Amino acid sequence: MKFFIDTANIQHIQEADSMGILDGVTTNPSLIAKEGIKDYKAHYKTICNILGKRPVSAEVIATDTEGMIREGSDLASISENIVVKIPLTKNGIKAIQYFAKQGIKTNCTLCFSATQALLAAKAGAVYISPFIGRLDDISHEGMQLIEQIRTIYDNYDFETQILAASIRHPVHVLQSALVGADVATMPFSVIEQLFHHPLTDIGLEKFLADHKKNSQ
Ligand code: G3P
Repeated sequence: MKFFIDTANIQHIQEADSMGILDGVTTNPSLIAKEGIKDYKAHYKTICNILGKRPVSAEVIATDTEGMIREGSDLASISENIVVKIPLTKNGIKAIQYFAKQGIKTNCTLCFSATQALLAAKAGAVYISPFIGRLDDISHEGMQLIEQIRTIYDNYDFETQILAASIRHPVHVLQSALVGADVATMPFSVIEQLFHHPLTDIGLEKFLADHKKNSQ
C-alpha cells in the first residue's frame, strides 16, 4: 500500500519524506489556500523537487472541459511527476479521457459513489479519490465505498488505482489497507499517529531501565 501525504506544507512534506515511507503528495485548492500560496506553480515545482520521481497531484480550478484541459496541460508542464487532479463531473470525465490519450496522468477527485468511480476508470484515470471522511461525516460508511470500488475494479481488471482520501484517523488507514485500497493519502498528523502505541513507549522505557540496572 502506498502512502501519500495530503498537504501543501513544505515542512510536513520534508519531514514525512525523511521518515522513508512517503510515496507521493496530494494537494487540493483548500490545502493550497491554507498555506497562503499565491505562486502555486513555483510551489508545485518545489514539492516535485523534493519528491523526485514520485507523483504530486495538482488540482485544476476550471470547471469546463476546455479550461480543465488548458489548466491541466499547464500543470503537467511543471514536471513529469505532476498528476492532474480533476473533479468527478461530466466535464471532468471528458478532460480525463483527453489526458489519458495524451499519456498525462490524472487523479479523479471528489468521488462519492462506486458508479462515479466506474466512470473514472472507463475514462482512464490513473487514480480515483473516494472521500471516506466526508461520507462518514454525513452518516454514510465511507469504507463501504472503497470496498465496492475494489470489487468493481477487480471484476473488470481496471488498472485505476484506488486512492483513499479524506482520511481522518489511523483506523481509516487500517480499514483502507484491509479492503485493498492501493493508496492512502493522509494529513501529516495521521502519519505521525501511525507510529504511536503506548505499549511501545512502556516497553522501551522498561528495556532501558533494565539495561541501566544491569550496567550499574
Ligand atoms: O485531498 C482531498 C481530501 O483528502 C480532502 O480531505 O479532510 O478535506 O475531507 P478532507
